[in-house]
Amino acid sequence: ANMASFDNIVNMCPNPPEMKNMEQMTSAKCIFMILPFKYDSSHPNDEPKSKFNGRGYRDIWDAQHVRMPCSPKNATENYGLIWNIICEQLRHLQHLCEKGTASFGDLKTAIENCAGRQYKMNCLDILINQEYQHVERQEFLSSVLPNICNLALNVDKVFGEPPPLLRIGADSSLTMSQRQAASLLACSFFCLFPYRSDDVNEQIEEYRYFQNPNFNRLYNKGGQHKIEKLKCILNYFRRITNQMPNGVISFRRYILPKMSRPKWSESQAKLSPMHLTLDKKIEDIEGVLHVDFANEYIGGGVLSSGCVQEEILFSICPEMLVSLLVCEKMNDDECIFLIGCERFSQYKGYGDSFQFAEDYIDDTPRDNWGRKWSHVVAMDALYFDKPEVQYAMQYIDRELIKAFTSFRTRKTGNEQDIEFGIATGNWGCGVFNGDRQLKAIIQLMAASQAQRPLIYATFYDKNLSESFSEVYNHLVHQRATVADLYRYLKCYSQQNKQENLFEFILRKSIETLY
Ligand code: AR6
Repeated sequence: ANMASFDNIVNMCPNPPEMKNMEQMTSAKCIFMILPFKYDSSHPNDEPKSKFNGRGYRDIWDAQHVRMPCSPKNATENYGLIWNIICEQLRHLQHLCEKGTASFGDLKTAIENCAGRQYKMNCLDILINQEYQHVERQEFLSSVLPNICNLALNVDKVFGEPPPLLRIGADSSLTMSQRQAASLLACSFFCLFPYRSDDVNEQIEEYRYFQNPNFNRLYNKGGQHKIEKLKCILNYFRRITNQMPNGVISFRRYILPKMSRPKWSESQAKLSPMHLTLDKKIEDIEGVLHVDFANEYIGGGVLSSGCVQEEILFSICPEMLVSLLVCEKMNDDECIFLIGCERFSQYKGYGDSFQFAEDYIDDTPRDNWGRKWSHVVAMDALYFDKPEVQYAMQYIDRELIKAFTSFRTRKTGNEQDIEFGIATGNWGCGVFNGDRQLKAIIQLMAASQAQRPLIYATFYDKNLSESFSEVYNHLVHQRATVADLYRYLKCYSQQNKQENLFEFILRKSIETLY
C-alpha cells in the first residue's frame, strides 16, 4: 500500500533536465577537464567541432595523461617511432580492404605488426570466418574495417592533445565528442595504447591500478559469450561507420568529501519512495540514474571472460569502454559517472547464455551539451569469498559509504531541484556473493539519506520482491528512519543469524512497538 507506483517515481524525475547534472553542481575541489570542442545546441545535427582543428597535435607525455599511440615519444630503440609503423600498417590494411582481398589474417598481421608481438585471436577469427554470414563478412572487411583504420589514423587530429586520466583521489571529469570516443576505441581495437598490459610482469608502475584498454584479451580463446560481446562491439563500429553520431559523452570521478559522510546512527531521514519491479532490467528503465554493478577496476571482465551485468552493459554501450582507458581503480569513497553513452545493441540471455540479439536504436533525448540523457553510476560492491563475514559492521559501513557516494546529489542550492530517481537491484549479489536482503536495506538507507526515490529491480526474484515489499511497507508504516535501520543492522550483525535479515527486522520493529 505504501509502495510508490512506477509512473510516480519516473514522474518525480525532471523531464530531461537541461544540464541539470553533475557538472553544473559546483564543487570547489572539482577540476573540470573538458576537452575543448564546440557544441551548438541550436544546430543539434552538426557534429561538435574540435577547437584544435587545424592547429595540429600538441603532445603531452606524462603520468596525468593518456600516453597516446600517436605521440612522438612513443618510440623504442629497435623500432623507432611506433606511430610511423602504425600508419604504415593501417594504410596497407585499408588498401587491401579497398582491393577487396582483405582477410582476418591481414587484420591479425596488422595488429601484431603494430604491437611488435603476437597475439592469439581465436574468438575474432571464429566471428569473422565462421559466425558471420558471407554478406556480414564482406561488409566488415570492405567497409567497416577501413573505417576503423581511419578513426585510429585520425586520433591525433580529432584530439589535438591527449585526454587527461581520472586518477584516484582527483575529483575530475572528462567530456568528449562521440567521434573522439570512437577514435580512442579504434585505437583499442588495434591494441595501440602503449605501456598497457594485463600481464603484471609487463605492467609499468604508472598503470598498476588501471585496466588494459586494448582489446587483445577479448580476441583470444574463450567461450561463445566472448564472441557475442565482440558482435556487439563490431555492431557499434558498423553503426558509426554508416553514420557518425554527433553527440557528446562525459566521465566523472566523484569523491565523497569527508565532512559529507552521514552519521548513520543519528540520521532522522525518512525512507524514500520506492517501487519494486520483478522483470524490468535496469537499463530499460528510462529517466533515472542507472547503477552499474561495477568492479573497482571499471568494466570488470568486459575485455576478458566476464559476462554479467557490468560487462553486458559495456558491450551494448561500447563508448563506456573509454572509461577503461582513463579511469584508475575506485577507492571506497569514490564512484564514476558515465554520462551520455549511447546504446547500440539489443541482447538475449545472461552470463554463459548471453547473445547479441539485434541492432538497437537509442532514441534517448539529448541535453543541451549534446549528451544523451543517460546517466550511469559505476559503484563497486565488496567481493565476499566467505559470505558469512559480510554482516560485520566494518563491511556494512563500507557498502553504505559506497552506495551513498554514488547516490548523493550535489545540491545547486536551487529550490526547484527535484532529484531524479535511481534504478538499482541486486548490487554485489551475483558474482560478488552478497546477501540480497542486506544489500536491499543498505541501498534503501543510502537512497533515503540522499533523498532520492528508488526503483528496485529484483531480476525475476519473486521471493525478494514479496519479502522486500512487506518489510518496506511495514517500515514506512512505522515511520522508521535511517537511524532505525542502522540500529537493526548493528543488532543483526551481533546475532547468530538464525533468521534472515528481513524476518529479524520485522520482529525487532514489532517488539519496539510494545
Ligand atoms: N538489471 C537488473 N538486475 C540485474 C541485471 C540487469 N540488467 N543484470 C543482473 N542483474 P552481478 P555483482 C542482477 O553479478 O555481484 C562483474 O564482473 C542479477 O540478479 O553482475 O556486484 C563486475 O565487473 C545478478 O545476479 O554483480 C564485477 O567484477 C545481480 O544483479 C562483478 O561482476 C548481480 O549482478 C560484480 O558482481
